[in-house]
Amino acid sequence: MSRPAELTTRPRVLPVLTVDGLDVTVGGSVQAVRDVSFTLTRGEAVGLVGESGSGKSLTCRSVLGVLPVGCEVSGGRVALAGDGAPTELTGLSRTQWNAVRGRRVGAVFQDPASYLNPSITVGRQLAEQLRVGRGLPRSAAHDRAVELFTAVGLHRPEEVFHQYPHELSGGMLQRVLIAIAVSCEPELLIADEATTALDVVIQAEILELLQGLRTERGLATLLVTHDLAVVAEACDRVLVMYAGEIVEDGPTADVLAAPAHPYTEALLRVASIGTWSRRELGVIPGAPPETGAELPGCRFADRCAYATAQCTAAPVALRTVREGHRARCLRPAGPPGGAGGATTPSPEPAGAPA
Ligand SMILES: Nc1ncnc2c1ncn2[C@@H]1O[C@H](COP(=O)(O)OP(=O)(O)OP(=O)(O)O)[C@@H](O)[C@H]1O
Ligand code: SF4
Ligand SMILES: [Mg+2]
Repeated sequence: MSRPAELTTRPRVLPVLTVDGLDVTVGGSVQAVRDVSFTLTRGEAVGLVGESGSGKSLTCRSVLGVLPVGCEVSGGRVALAGDGAPTELTGLSRTQWNAVRGRRVGAVFQDPASYLNPSITVGRQLAEQLRVGRGLPRSAAHDRAVELFTAVGLHRPEEVFHQYPHELSGGMLQRVLIAIAVSCEPELLIADEATTALDVVIQAEILELLQGLRTERGLATLLVTHDLAVVAEACDRVLVMYAGEIVEDGPTADVLAAPAHPYTEALLRVASIGTWSRRELGVIPGAPPETGAELPGCRFADRCAYATAQCTAAPVALRTVREGHRARCLRPAGPPGGAGGATTPSPEPAGAPA
């Protein structure tokens, strides 16, 4: 006798984070983030890349509920699932956010010093987070803080506990911030350019630390970076943003080996000088449209070597190119590992400087 379909179907991996059709508006009418959708599952690391101004930080800040003054979520939804029913984050009150931010979602940013109080020792700042977030009594909070400092690779953690932010190096401060970010055992960690200001050796150590937290605790991580080597080494999947939109979304190895969107292809081309040890996003000829510019079709068309009249006629939706891999492009995708589509590129993109 055949088994009912619900018993034979493999259980779905529920996303920890769902971002669905997110729009962010700046100054009341300028749409800086458009229809951004993605998910993160437990223990997954997703890289978010794109040129400066493409909307990466506004996307992260929407998930954290800390958009700058004048910016607001104007459409879509953000939900956290964890082990229970989804918690809708869009529209939470300030008090409701306090139960989520720092507890269920942790964050680390580029400049750790600016997120720490300069006049309080780093140990007290972490212990305070543990007391408020986890309800630990004073001595237990102290002991847990020392444990966490050890876990994030700080030597002499008891000594570090009593130090002020100005007494620590940038790498040590970033470790302190990571300890604070994970202290309440969040489901999700957002790292917005968290390793950008660090030298290569410290950056590698911090990435290794984040990797350890993912495997040991199942922490889902959204990693914003300008460094494609970080994506290659640390991320299962990559999201590529351009002019406020996600233009490509797929498994890292697949996207890097066979980019399906001409923008990703261009990013990889300009980053391809040297080795994978440090491939930062280079400069692609031309410029992105002004933030919020309303265009009838593809937002990359002015810089695209493959643009046709069809590309600018109507909005271009994300389309599946291969399993788990989507791109916002009308050009047919090539085979995995191959160079691309059916159209022969012209030597220079439209509008590129001579
Ligand atoms: N506080 C703000 N006020 C006005 N405009 C803003 C504000 N924050 C962001 N923007 C605009 O929204 C767009 C997206 O900004 P965002 O900070 O998300 O970019 P980003 O991709 O993180 O860039 P970067 O790589 O430089 O950090 C930019 O054009 C930016 O000018
Ligand atoms: S839709 Fe057309 S213009 Fe846009 S990226 Fe694809 S080929 Fe280029
Ligand atoms: Mg940013």
